[in-house]
Amino acid sequence: TRSSSMSVYRNAVWLVKGLQEYTRSGYEAAAKHFAPADLEVSLSGRSYVITGANSGLGKATAQEVANRGGTVHMVCRNQSRADAAKEEIVERSKNQNVHVHIVDMSNARQVWEFAQSFSQSSCLHVLINNAGCMVNERELTEDGLEKNFATNTLGTYILTTALIPALKKVEDPRVVTVSSGGMLTQKLNADDLQFEKGAFDGTAAYAQNKRQQVILTERWATQHKDIHFSSMHPGWADTPAVQTSMPSFHAKMQAKLRTEAMGADTVVWLAVSAAAAKQPSGLFFQDRKAVATHLPLASSRASAQEEEKLLAALDEFALKFKP
Ligand SMILES: *[C@@H]1O[C@H](CO)[C@@H](O)[C@H](O)[C@H]1NC(C)=O
Repeated sequence: TRSSSMSVYRNAVWLVKGLQEYTRSGYEAAAKHFAPADLEVSLSGRSYVITGANSGLGKATAQEVANRGGTVHMVCRNQSRADAAKEEIVERSKNQNVHVHIVDMSNARQVWEFAQSFSQSSCLHVLINNAGCMVNERELTEDGLEKNFATNTLGTYILTTALIPALKKVEDPRVVTVSSGGMLTQKLNADDLQFEKGAFDGTAAYAQNKRQQVILTERWATQHKDIHFSSMHPGWADTPAVQTSMPSFHAKMQAKLRTEAMGADTVVWLAVSAAAAKQPSGLFFQDRKAVATHLPLASSRASAQEEEKLLAALDEFALKFKP
């Protein structure tokens, strides 16, 4: 069919692009053009919520924020792992303003409760939507939602929408969402958000969620002009999540993968630098540059109507779980 040959085309073009740009050598080539002074900032008095902050890119980002004097709120699922990561971050940064919040991002009610109580007690300058999962079997949460969708799309949607009022109270508020270049292989499918049709493919589900995050970022940017939104691709980094969810990719690519710090670099740049805030809101970044959200000739653009359908569905889910 036309749509499956299009999908083969997208995957092939994406792989060639990835081997060139998403690897360690791709990072090193891009980094020659970075301005080192961009990250020489004090974040004292600014507050950062980072989801999935106990490992991988989230932890690397939390460390960089703590090193610069920012207040870090780590949103994590597992208390003992979060506490261990927090101790390391405090020890290395000598910054005591690091806090742990236990939230399962796949649990919509918990996400709401956290966001509401956080807004009442603390201020927020930057939200970093980093937590994500790639579940390779079709698995349901206790609420009966498909797990990738619940975590990557709905969790991100509820957390961001619920924290927008808190962000609107501060100077220079930002929302950074860690998406993935894998989203380039996907066209939005708002008719099957929970992957009920056809054979389930965890990698494709994940990439579809990441496409949805890019679209949400564009939409939020047009709705809330006083907040700076961005989404980004970290490249292919050697993280515990990649090892666990994509073992064969990890084994094959190991020598070419980026370090966690390389993967986190653009997250940190978007979250802290003055240069990033000067970029238009709503864009998708790779190695500190705004890049295209579609591959050439890939027919992956959704209609405005389809995007509206996504937003309406997320609104409905969000309301259903609102305390
Ligand atoms: C939290 O992580 C620890 C260490 O990896 C593990 O032993 C424990 O079972 C986890 N707890 C939950 C609730 O998942």
